[in-house]
Amino acid sequence: MKFLIINGPNLNMLGLREPGIYGDKTYAALCDSLRAWCAEAGVECELFQSNHEGAIVDKIQEAYGAVDGIVINPAAYTHTSVAILDALKAVSIPTVEVHISKVSEREAFRQVSYVSYYALRTYEGLGFEGYHKAIRFLKETLTE
Ligand code: DQA
Repeated sequence: MKFLIINGPNLNMLGLREPGIYGDKTYAALCDSLRAWCAEAGVECELFQSNHEGAIVDKIQEAYGAVDGIVINPAAYTHTSVAILDALKAVSIPTVEVHISKVSEREAFRQVSYVSYYALRTYEGLGFEGYHKAIRFLKETLTE
């Protein structure tokens, strides 16, 4: 079983970026944890980060027939991107959405998530642990 883990814009700046909201751990540290959690779940993983909407759409399209599940933190594109939602619907790969911060308690413009229209589940406000829960949930769902 293989998972694709996608992180959207500015998540490569973790550690430096608004540590009061996103914590002080870097994107490299997140990648280390993601690899460890996938190994723990017994799944192969590919990690992808991009600041570009079209690159994320391309990556989702390439995942067709190549991965069993997607974990995605679309970052700011969560609140704007119909294109990412449509790409997920097109490939029809089981997907879980993650947000490090508790978006539901933040600004009004963060209250819409297009990806939520497709995702099986959303984890928010749990820091990096949200990705851990997403990997475990996806593994359990796909093994049932
Ligand atoms: C985020 C929340 C988004 O609103 C924001 O634009 C991000 C990160 C999160 O992980 O909490 O870049 O997706």
